[in-house]
Amino acid sequence: MSAAGAEVAVPESEPVYASYPSLRGRTSFVSGGASGLGAEFVVELAGQGARVFFVDVDAERGRALEQRLRDEGAQVRFAVCDVRDVPALQAAIATAADELGPVRVLVNNAANDHRDRVPDMDVALWDERIAVNVRHHFFAAQAVAPMMRDAGGGSIINLGSISVHIDLMDLPGYITAKAGVEGLTRTLAREYGPWHVRVNCIIPGWIMTEKQLAERVTPEAEASIERNQCLPDKLYPDDVARMVLWLAADDSRRCTAQKWVVDGGWM
Ligand SMILES: NC(=O)c1ccc[n+]([C@@H]2O[C@H](COP(=O)([O-])OP(=O)(O)OC[C@H]3O[C@@H](n4cnc5c(N)ncnc54)[C@H](O)[C@@H]3O)[C@@H](O)[C@H]2O)c1
Repeated sequence: MSAAGAEVAVPESEPVYASYPSLRGRTSFVSGGASGLGAEFVVELAGQGARVFFVDVDAERGRALEQRLRDEGAQVRFAVCDVRDVPALQAAIATAADELGPVRVLVNNAANDHRDRVPDMDVALWDERIAVNVRHHFFAAQAVAPMMRDAGGGSIINLGSISVHIDLMDLPGYITAKAGVEGLTRTLAREYGPWHVRVNCIIPGWIMTEKQLAERVTPEAEASIERNQCLPDKLYPDDVARMVLWLAADDSRRCTAQKWVVDGGWM
């Protein structure tokens, strides 16, 4: 192959994906599951036969997704919950366990990447960014870990962000919180390892959700994807969901305390 040939993107074969029998009937809890990546996690977990309880502030989209999946025969339950309200989140987790059985998979996904200029930050805004982007990860994990222990183990999956590892501006609270998610992952993995509760962090690259496509993917942004990724392809929510499935399933049973980067080779 010529040196020039290696730089030419060539067509890819049609993908064939794994399925995970260990997820069948397994109760999973997803925060921020009404849209974006979270909705894809709900769909893919339900597609594996898991029982899925998801929460979001977006009642309309949450109910629509719940109805669609139920019509398809999935065991899915949606509840309106603002993850910044920790007692409400704890109550939702308790309801999930009552209705669907002990939670064995937790996907801490809800977040808000609102842009904030550094001079505009005040204490209330800073606290809000931390509350929506990392605080609930801890309290959700604290709520599910004992039920995972009693059920013989479980998997906690925290959503981090590539933004911690590349140079971005106007996201001081978000990036600080997402860096915290990585530290939280490591310490909780150590705390809960003896209970066979695994704690991992997925670091998505730039994923083409509806919101990103509508609000942020400009021609210049597309050029930066091409420049920065090793792979030429844009990434979509299902690319990250397949990592969620693997980390949720028994197939990854000896993997914990790690970062799993799904970014097309950007970092
Ligand atoms: N899309 C990307 O390119 C990308 C890149 C890196 C990391 N991530 C991370 O992946 C996860 C999902 O990202 P996304 O792009 O789908 O985000 P998104 O903003 O499109 O969706 C987030 C979901 O969380 C919900 N939500 C927001 N605030 C909430 C609250 N207070 N309580 C409950 N629900 C709330 C929203 O309604 C929405 O359904 C996030 O943790 C994000 O930080 C995404």
